[in-house]
Amino acid sequence: MTRHHKPAKHLKHESESEAHRIFRESAGHAPKGLIPQTVNPDEETVPGIQHPGSTGVIYCSDRAMANGFSYASSHEWANLGQGAPEVGAIPDAPPKPRTIDVPEDSLEYAPTTGVKELREAVANLYNHTYRQGKESQYTYENVCIVPGGRSGLSRVAAVIGDVYTSYQIPDYTAYDQVLGAFKRLVPVPTTLDAEDSYHLNIQQTRKDIRTQGLQVLIASNPRNPTGQVIRDGELKELVDLARDTTTTVILDEFYSWYIYPENDEDFGKSVSSAEFIQDVNQDPVVIVDGLTKNWRLPGWRVCWVIGPKNLVTALSQSGSFLDGGANHPLQLAAIPLLEPERVKQEKLSLQKHFKAKRDHVLARLEALQLKVKVPPRATFYIWLDLEDLPAPINNGLTFFEELLKEKTIVIPGIFFDINPSHRRNLVDSPCHHFVRLSFGPPREDLDKGLDAIERVLKRARKEGGPRHFGHGYKKSIDSPTTLTHFV
Ligand SMILES: Cc1ncc(COP(=O)(O)O)c(C=O)c1O
Repeated sequence: MTRHHKPAKHLKHESESEAHRIFRESAGHAPKGLIPQTVNPDEETVPGIQHPGSTGVIYCSDRAMANGFSYASSHEWANLGQGAPEVGAIPDAPPKPRTIDVPEDSLEYAPTTGVKELREAVANLYNHTYRQGKESQYTYENVCIVPGGRSGLSRVAAVIGDVYTSYQIPDYTAYDQVLGAFKRLVPVPTTLDAEDSYHLNIQQTRKDIRTQGLQVLIASNPRNPTGQVIRDGELKELVDLARDTTTTVILDEFYSWYIYPENDEDFGKSVSSAEFIQDVNQDPVVIVDGLTKNWRLPGWRVCWVIGPKNLVTALSQSGSFLDGGANHPLQLAAIPLLEPERVKQEKLSLQKHFKAKRDHVLARLEALQLKVKVPPRATFYIWLDLEDLPAPINNGLTFFEELLKEKTIVIPGIFFDINPSHRRNLVDSPCHHFVRLSFGPPREDLDKGLDAIERVLKRARKEGGPRHFGHGYKKSIDSPTTLTHFV
């Protein structure tokens, strides 16, 4: 009987794995600091220019394209890496606008804080949804319109002073670059514990604020990629903490409608810290949200930051050099989409549709003996632990490469290891043995991707199966185009 070579259960170093070497060789991903540096001919050849390190977006799309993915062939692929919701019709949702007006005034620049009527519509929606009967109400002066969520986050990061800024691991990939790019702020990580379902311990945070001198805290809530959410009494505690400790809490609430209740009567409820703020101009709580996920309009690039008036004037200044403001005609077209009755209908249909997709994907994963240890209660992501799979597909990068061969895209967990200076062996990352699966795409695409996962697992679980994995990855990258819808 021939003895098959059996890969070691766990990698000791990233250099042992082809998938990890390909990652390191792509521009901007060379290790810095403690790990010996390799010279990469793809980068640092333009005088004075340094790659910031690609977000998961660029890396995953480049790797998919090296494996034959293109817009033309995208129907053959299952993109479970997709960081956007399906944008087409879903049952009972109001129809999306297909044409927009472009009045002459809208040919001019819009103000860097946005069109006043849209700012008013945002303030009105938040007051209507979360602040009925409260004395302090939002006005347009509390709202800054921004050209997309990442612009909003960059505008905010650009106005953070020379202070300790706390963030958690894992969280949304772009925080890595945003927290690294603005050099005044000093990022301070906290790793959330899988055993504790990635829960942010508010009491511990209160202590950290005192002992470490934290002045700003940033988090996505609901959280990408774990699908967990801080809500109700706990969210109130977090808002109280911001007020009592005078710590600015920035909550990225892009998935505030993607909440999946157990009981039918709870459908239609969304989650926002706006509910627990006492004085909208005093409480140091900053909300970032927009049309990208909740309205399922990622292409519009119309989003907002809500906070005290004095924050909005600062954001106007950072917007004037960073991005110059959101598209004027689309800001006008967005106003009717914020009408509370329309929002109610949209939210309800979205929650029912996405809850059914979540339950479907979880059931199929369970049938494949891929138990999701911390199932999502919100967002459209599943944070999947691969540790119990046979080596070498028990790490996110190798699992990702094997699925590319099957025309399926997932996102390796390491991209959610917000680590602004990238000083660790990838295998030591707490996110190394995870992937993020998205149930943003339509159900047919989800099934196509799950079929591909099933094929890979079948092969891996066969006698001698694992030796077919971990090598043979295509390297050529035809075009550096970025398909921004991955993360
Ligand atoms: C938590 C979170 N915030 C912000 C964004 C980005 O929004 P936008 O595409 O509008 O820049 C995303 C998108 O993936 C996200 O997951």
